[in-house]
Amino acid sequence: MLNQLTQLEQEALEALVAIKSSQELAEWNRRYLGKKGALTLLLRSVGTLPKEERPAFGQAANRAKNELEAAYKERAQELRRIELEREMARGALDVTLPGRPGGPGHLHITTQTLRQIISIFAEMGFQVYESRDVESDEMNFGLLNMPPHHPARDMWDTFWLDDNTLLRTHTSPGQIRVMRERYPEPIRVILPGKCYRYEQVTARSEHQFYQVEGLAVGHAITMTDLIGTLTEFARRLYGPQRHIRIRGSYFPFTEPSVEADMDCILCGGEGCRVCKYSGWLEVAGAGMVHPVVLQNGGYDPAEWSGFAFGLGVERPAMLKYSIDDIRLFYGNDLRFLRQF
Ligand code: DAH
Repeated sequence: MLNQLTQLEQEALEALVAIKSSQELAEWNRRYLGKKGALTLLLRSVGTLPKEERPAFGQAANRAKNELEAAYKERAQELRRIELEREMARGALDVTLPGRPGGPGHLHITTQTLRQIISIFAEMGFQVYESRDVESDEMNFGLLNMPPHHPARDMWDTFWLDDNTLLRTHTSPGQIRVMRERYPEPIRVILPGKCYRYEQVTARSEHQFYQVEGLAVGHAITMTDLIGTLTEFARRLYGPQRHIRIRGSYFPFTEPSVEADMDCILCGGEGCRVCKYSGWLEVAGAGMVHPVVLQNGGYDPAEWSGFAFGLGVERPAMLKYSIDDIRLFYGNDLRFLRQF
């Protein structure tokens, strides 16, 4: 039987070399290695041998099987290469065929929200002023009434680029830039843009996000102008029944400083999961521009006054669409993005 095995192996290898197509190759595989193939049948007949001869035969048969399988794989690869070359020679591969079309894209949900916010403020007479993302320590903090070592700087964990340069932690430094550019004109602008904070990324906070800063500077501008503007904004974005409430707060660049809340869009103030059963949602930090900041912008606080606010952009979109993870905005997952 060992002889039979050697013979079979020899015959199979010779047949393999002569093979010219993948159909022939499949046939060969069936004939020798298949369920009813010659080698398989021979392997099965091991039981008919006397006991002492079985181990040696078994070993030889397994070796022959491995060898034939390896030879088969190699020949299959060779044939594939030959067939491809033949096809290319025939010109069957048309490299001028157009590729798969990418399909039209659409605006990112953040851009959609930003544009909505911008158009609402545009109707109220606010221009868009774009300020830079990379700022100096002085613009981001110093001129906003936070000299070096001011404890309020701790409110903004900062990405420093060098000792004096940083990624803006809020859009507020743009206030100084607009004022210096526009003096002595009255100002009514919004400053949309990305902000950066050196913070742990979680479902609720990203290290990059958008804000829309608002700034109005003029004569006899008062807190009622601020409240009226924010109320009108909330009503245009969320519907005419919305209310704004003002709470005292603290920011170094406003005096007085406030926090503006809106009654919850989901429960209308009854209390629900979205508003954490308070009935209110935070909308903006705001206040009357601090005299020091007006002065740093070139406006004499004895003659001029102003209000300012800082709105989030992702948060309103999250409320509107019940998105519970801010990381989705930057994840670039089309399954998320295509929904908006
Ligand atoms: N810059 C503040 C922040 O990022 C938000 C803010 C609060 C902006 C009050 C303002 C303001 O203009 O008046 O947390």
